[in-house]
Amino acid sequence: NNYEMILVSQNANVGIIQLNRPAALNALCKQLTAEMVDALNKFDSNPNIGAIVLTGNNRAFAAGADIKQMGDRKLTDMLNDDVLDWTVGIRAIRKPIIAAVNGYALGGGCELAMLCDIIYAGEKAVFGQPEINIGTIPGAGGTQRLVKAVGKSKAMEICLSGKINLNAEQAHIAGLVSGVYPADKVVAKAIQTAKLISAQSMPIVALVKNSVNHSFEVPLESGLEYERRLFQLTFGTEDRREGMKAFIEKRKPKFANL
Ligand code: HXC
Repeated sequence: NNYEMILVSQNANVGIIQLNRPAALNALCKQLTAEMVDALNKFDSNPNIGAIVLTGNNRAFAAGADIKQMGDRKLTDMLNDDVLDWTVGIRAIRKPIIAAVNGYALGGGCELAMLCDIIYAGEKAVFGQPEINIGTIPGAGGTQRLVKAVGKSKAMEICLSGKINLNAEQAHIAGLVSGVYPADKVVAKAIQTAKLISAQSMPIVALVKNSVNHSFEVPLESGLEYERRLFQLTFGTEDRREGMKAFIEKRKPKFANL
């Protein structure tokens, strides 16, 4: 692993990726996003990893796309070389990704957090979509996922005001994050949840993630139909049989990921 802008480690069955470009507040430049997607893919295909934690440092989760790298680009540059292709890479990851956010999660950084499956925030975390201040708009889900997370009025306010002021508590109340913890505890909390997930049947976990994400794509009736099919599909696994059998026999299930 010759990564320069991320740190990769493992805690039991949990893969941990720390964005590590502190001098630029983890601005999401080409190299950083490429390394991040590469590490995510490696964890995704590693049978010893059940879930992934993505974090930054105390000052920043990520302060957005790299403005310096984008400054001189023309439309044709953007079309020929999509600086947002990493978002497609993250969406393809089957294992759950938990974002542990301390400090700034701005622009592409907030969108990166929303691309993850669960967001935990440290008490000093700050979220915002300040793109409007630099003459552009969110490009990686800020006007789409944020609406689903916090509703239209708040999403409009965040994207139109460009203010960097949605603190952890507000983000929690609004439903953007699922828990707020002391800054020095948020990664540990994410790892704890990731371990819980890792103890489950991996194919079943992937189906849950897939089904929840599907709800963003389709109308309710189609989503329910899709969910029902995936539910039926679990009956093709050994782990479903073992899970129910263990319940009936009043013991813990032993999942074989089969
Ligand atoms: C490139 C960045 C950066 C960014 C910070 N830096 N954010 N470099 N791209 N997005 C760099 C600064 O230039 C500076 O480098 C160093 O990080 C420290 O930042 P400071 O500004 O000195 O820190 P501070 O005064 O504490 O202010 C923190 C801040 C501010 C409020 C977060 O940095 C800021 O407003 N950043 C930009 C936030 C933003 O607009 N994000 C949206 C980007 S557009 P030097 O070399 O001077 O020390 C976007 C499009 C989304 O994300 C599209 C999909 C991905």
